[in-house]
Amino acid sequence: MTDPRDPADDATTGWVIAGAGWVARDHMAPALAASPTSRVVAVVDRDLGAARALAQRFPGAVAHDDLATAFREPGARAAYVATPNHAHREVAAAAAAAGLAVLCEKPLAATLDDAAALVQACEEAGVLAATAFDQRFHPAHRRTAELLAEGALGTVTSVRIVYGCWLPPGWAPPGSTTGDNWRVDPVRAGGGAYVDLAPHGLDLVGALLGEDVEVATTHLQRRVHDYAVDDGSVLVGSTPSGVLVSIANSFNTVETLPRRRLEVVGTRGQLVAQNTMGQTAGGTLELIDAATGESSPVGFDTATSPFAAQVRAVEEALADPARWPFPLARDLRLLHLLHAALGAGVPGTRPDPALTAQEARA
Ligand SMILES: NC(=O)c1ccc[n+]([C@@H]2O[C@H](COP(=O)([O-])OP(=O)(O)OC[C@H]3O[C@@H](n4cnc5c(N)ncnc54)[C@H](O)[C@@H]3O)[C@@H](O)[C@H]2O)c1
Repeated sequence: MTDPRDPADDATTGWVIAGAGWVARDHMAPALAASPTSRVVAVVDRDLGAARALAQRFPGAVAHDDLATAFREPGARAAYVATPNHAHREVAAAAAAAGLAVLCEKPLAATLDDAAALVQACEEAGVLAATAFDQRFHPAHRRTAELLAEGALGTVTSVRIVYGCWLPPGWAPPGSTTGDNWRVDPVRAGGGAYVDLAPHGLDLVGALLGEDVEVATTHLQRRVHDYAVDDGSVLVGSTPSGVLVSIANSFNTVETLPRRRLEVVGTRGQLVAQNTMGQTAGGTLELIDAATGESSPVGFDTATSPFAAQVRAVEEALADPARWPFPLARDLRLLHLLHAALGAGVPGTRPDPALTAQEARA
C-alpha cells in the first residue's frame, strides 16, 4: 500500500484541511475520502481535539493546532480553508506562503479589506486560489449552464434564486460541541443571511450565464430573529447584456417550506432547479417548454455532490492553473458588488429598520 504521506507519491493531491468544523466534517471530508485522486495529509484547527477527531478519518493524516506546521506537512499541495469568515485571511495567507493552492470557503472574508489582502497574498505567492463556491459544480447547475450555452431557452430574460434556511440565535451546526453561533456575529461573519448566502447566488449567476451581475441593489430584513445582523435579504440586479437577476436569501425560512430554488427564464422556455442549491447531491431539474407549457425532467448526475465535483475541478486545475475559470480577483469584484448593493453602510452594521422607523416617527 502506498504511504499516504509519502511526498513522492504525486499520483494524488495532498490536502490540508484548515478548520475542522461543520462544513469540513460533513461535506468536504466525505468528498476527499471518496476521491481516488486525493488524500488528506493534515488537519489543523485551533481546537486540537477537533483537528484530531477529523484527522483520524484519514489514514496517515496528522492533526495540528499550528497553521505553519500543518501547511509544511510533507506531501501537502492544497489547503481547504474552512474557518469562520474573519479568520480566512490569516489562514489562506499562511497556506499561500507555504506554496499551497488555496480553496477558501465563502465569503472570502468578513471585510472587504481582509478579502483584498487575502487575494493579494495568494497572487503574490503565485498559487492557484479559489473561493469554495461548490454550487458552481453541482451537476444540475453544470447541466443548466450547458443548456443555456446551447441556446435551449432562447433569449434569457431573468434568473431568480431563492436560498434560505432557519437559523435562530442559538443555532449550532450538527455535531457542534461549542454551540458558538458565529454566523450572527457581525465581526466574525461580516453580516447575516445576506453575507452568508448571497455570495453563492451571485457566483452561480456568472457561472450559468457566462457574465456576472454588474449593478445591484439590496434590501435587508431583520424581522424574525433577535440578533444584530439581517435575517433576510433580496438583491436585485442586472448583467451587462440585460438579464435581470433576483437573489432572495434568508435565515428566517422554516425548513419544512420550499427554500432552495433556481429559475432561469428565457423566451423559449424556463429551467427550474429545486433543492440543488446546497451542499448535497441530487435535487431536481425541469425544463418548461414555452411553446406548450409542458414540463419535462432534465437528467443530470444525481450521485455526485457539488463538493466532490469541486475537489475534482480544483485538482484538475492544479495541472494547469491558468485554465481555472474563476480567478479570485473576479470573486473579489463580486464581493465588492455585494457590499456596494447595500448603499451606505456595511452588512450587519446598518441601523435597525425598526428603530429607524421609530426615530422617523418621533
Ligand atoms: N460552501 C458551503 O456550502 C458552506 C457551508 C457551510 C459553511 N461554509 C463556510 O465554511 C466556513 C466554516 O463554516 P463552518 O460551518 O464549518 O464553521 P464551524 O464553526 O462549524 O467550524 C469552524 C472551525 O474553525 C476553527 N477555527 C476558528 N478559527 C480558527 C483559526 N484561526 N485557525 C484554525 N481553526 C480555526 C474552529 O475551531 C472550528 O472547528 C465559513 O466560512 C462558512 O461560511 C460554507
